[in-house]
Amino acid sequence: MPAFYQEWFYKAKRSLTAMVITKPQPKALTFTGVDSVKDLCRTIGQFGIAKVLIVTDKPLVELGTLDTTLAWLTEHGVAHEIYDGVLPDPTQSVVDNGIAVLQQAQCDAVLAFGGGSSIDAAKVIALAAANDCQAEDCIGLKQCKLPALPLFAVPTTAGTGSEATMIAVISDNETHEKGGVIDPALIPRATALDPVIMKGLPAHITAATGMDALTHAIEAYIGVWEMPETRYYSMSAIKLIFDNLPEAYVNGDNLEAREAMALASHYGGLAITSALVGYVHAVSHNLGAKYGVPHGLANAMVLPHVLDLMKDTAAKKMADIAVHAGLGEPSETHAALTEKLIAKVRELNAAIGIPVTTDVIREEDVKDLVDAALKEGSSYPTPRYLERRECEALVRSLMTA
Ligand SMILES: [Fe+2]
Repeated sequence: MPAFYQEWFYKAKRSLTAMVITKPQPKALTFTGVDSVKDLCRTIGQFGIAKVLIVTDKPLVELGTLDTTLAWLTEHGVAHEIYDGVLPDPTQSVVDNGIAVLQQAQCDAVLAFGGGSSIDAAKVIALAAANDCQAEDCIGLKQCKLPALPLFAVPTTAGTGSEATMIAVISDNETHEKGGVIDPALIPRATALDPVIMKGLPAHITAATGMDALTHAIEAYIGVWEMPETRYYSMSAIKLIFDNLPEAYVNGDNLEAREAMALASHYGGLAITSALVGYVHAVSHNLGAKYGVPHGLANAMVLPHVLDLMKDTAAKKMADIAVHAGLGEPSETHAALTEKLIAKVRELNAAIGIPVTTDVIREEDVKDLVDAALKEGSSYPTPRYLERRECEALVRSLMTA
């Protein structure tokens, strides 16, 4: 297809999505701070929930991270059933098994307790169970008629911001190709950003998930669907992350830094709910799908390269970010400020142990990776479209020589 028609086609496709995404959306009632999970459990009781399905993973159950939450639910008269079958990048089977447990235990609500994978799985379990269907029936834009069962979330990592968004990503059982479920019904009714829950998170996960949050905030802001609300959430998240991620990485017991990162992650989620993401995610999703590179780690490696490619088109917005984050003065040129922002991202990556390259990318996969990243990137409201040679150079720059 000629480039002009291709661009027109992409714009038309994005406009259809924009009609749903950019409408004002509900927001989760959000509790923050030490032991805020207790407030959430009280609220679940006040909603009149009799029995909640807790969607989580085995390690969190075995570590006892759930224990206080279970006690607080009981204290507030809410019975529970645990489904701990969530694995990273949950498949449709993971969701369908959760629906079966929910129906068997006759739960009337869902509580996500975990990282992005558990929250995404819980969202689709709540939506599919209410609509008496299975995970694959939910994939796409607003595929279900009925609202989800009451949904609550306790994020245990600070990165995905999934507790704030209307999107869940579920993988195909066989191909592991990722499918997005997009529905305002996926936004939880209430959430708790409790730093105590995140205290034990290993440093490398703190680093990777924190960079995922930074990527959300930056990609949402420099994209073309940025709105006044996006500006507030993105700018707040970026400053919180620059100021607190190195401390949360080095000293995981610092509850102030953990709380700041949890809030930044939530703001990043709110930002992408209306403004979506861009080429960083387009590339990193495919590194994740092909080689299992953790999402936040891939984003962290790709982010400075994409900023470098967007620095002319998005110069004003990147300069705004640099000034807001205290990296420079408004009197400086956009070119100088964008370079300072890119340098700051590289410096942050180095401070938290993010590698510059990876040895997992195989030469014979480069073409497919580039094709897939360009295809996915075309569905996002990016500042501009990348040319094939630019995307290929980006992928090659991630490869260990
Ligand atoms: Fe992400």
